[in-house]
Amino acid sequence: MSKILIIEDEASIRRVLVKILSEESDTYKVDEAEDGLQGLEKIKNEDYDLVLCDIKMPKMDGEEVLEAVKKIKPEIPMVMISGHGDLETAVNTMRLGAFDYISKPPDLNRLLNTVRHALDRKQLVAENKILKKKVSKNYEMIGESDAINQIKEMIDKVAPTEARVLITGPNGTGKELVAHQLHEKSERSGAPLIEVNCAAIPSELIESELFGHVKGAFTSAVKDRAGKFEAADKGTIFLDEVGDMSLSAQAKVLRALQENLIQRVGADKDIKVNVRVVAATNKDLKKEIAEGRFREDLYHRLAVILIKVPALNDRRDDIPLLVNHFAEKIASEQGTTVKKFSVDAIKLLQEYDWTGNIRELRNVVERLIILGGTEISENDVKLFASK
Ligand SMILES: Nc1ncnc2c1ncn2[C@@H]1O[C@H](COP(=O)(O)OP(=O)(O)OP(=O)(O)O)[C@@H](O)[C@H]1O
Ligand SMILES: [Mg+2]
Repeated sequence: MSKILIIEDEASIRRVLVKILSEESDTYKVDEAEDGLQGLEKIKNEDYDLVLCDIKMPKMDGEEVLEAVKKIKPEIPMVMISGHGDLETAVNTMRLGAFDYISKPPDLNRLLNTVRHALDRKQLVAENKILKKKVSKNYEMIGESDAINQIKEMIDKVAPTEARVLITGPNGTGKELVAHQLHEKSERSGAPLIEVNCAAIPSELIESELFGHVKGAFTSAVKDRAGKFEAADKGTIFLDEVGDMSLSAQAKVLRALQENLIQRVGADKDIKVNVRVVAATNKDLKKEIAEGRFREDLYHRLAVILIKVPALNDRRDDIPLLVNHFAEKIASEQGTTVKKFSVDAIKLLQEYDWTGNIRELRNVVERLIILGGTEISENDVKLFASK
């Protein structure tokens, strides 16, 4: 059902519009108002998908209605109706955020087309919103154990600052999640978070990946290219697996951090960058330093704040919440109903040795949902979750 409101002081035109739209589709529910004030009142009290609004009206004209709607319900598309004398105003309303305008007397095809487009757009905007919400929900941090609460508190304190953060912890504990939260909760969240997996990039390419290059700097450099630091300008760069970076790349990163200056490979000009650095590693950097594989000066630059994400074995209290969270998530991804886990099943999962941490737990939950019964039992866990 699409709810459409027509605001028009001329009764004859109003009637024509109501008739055309109600007859066009069963899914259009058409409502009317005879002046701007009445129209605005209705918009406040009802959820419309589209408003058609005359420009010249007594009490409150179309432009005023438009401006008021943009303030209170900006998501509603407004189509303006213009008479002979106010074409210029009509064009101007587009600048104020009107979706479109139609002229009087309304041309049937143009009217219906415009209405359809405006409704489609509304739908799209709504879907996008849901999608965005889903994306940010992907980085939700589940858990209420003391250990995870400490991490959450730390994130809330540190995120709004400009401090560099080093996140450490074993595989699959949620380091990437922490990095995303730090960015989302910072003033930089409007700008990009650029991730660089330092372990995945061959050492001879990492410099160009991070800092960019100019044409001709090396054989395959066929044109100028910006690197990740430039891409992250005003945002955050996430140096994941930073412990795997080569010593020569470490030297370059150190300079970028000390001076906020970078140089594209092959260029002689410095570029100023405004980037917050968050890094993560599952290596013991102190040990790497002792063995000469990691620069101590870089370590101190990166680890202004240190966040240690605990192993799942050290916060087993969170396992029930995590299991239910993943069961819900997997069901919604697959479009199926959520499977319940019995109390005993969860108890048994709480006793396992989770060397792969949360990532492993998620995989096990997924396996149990696929292979287990309608309610996951202790026996299902014994059968399918053993390692
Ligand atoms: N507290 C949490 N709540 C919900 N999901 C989580 C939590 N922590 C981690 N996850 C999920 O577990 C998986 C692994 O997390 P993530 O990739 O952040 O780990 P990581 O520490 O970066 O691992 P690696 O060292 O292997 O790179 C992801 O799917 C992530 O969404
Ligand atoms: Mg990771």
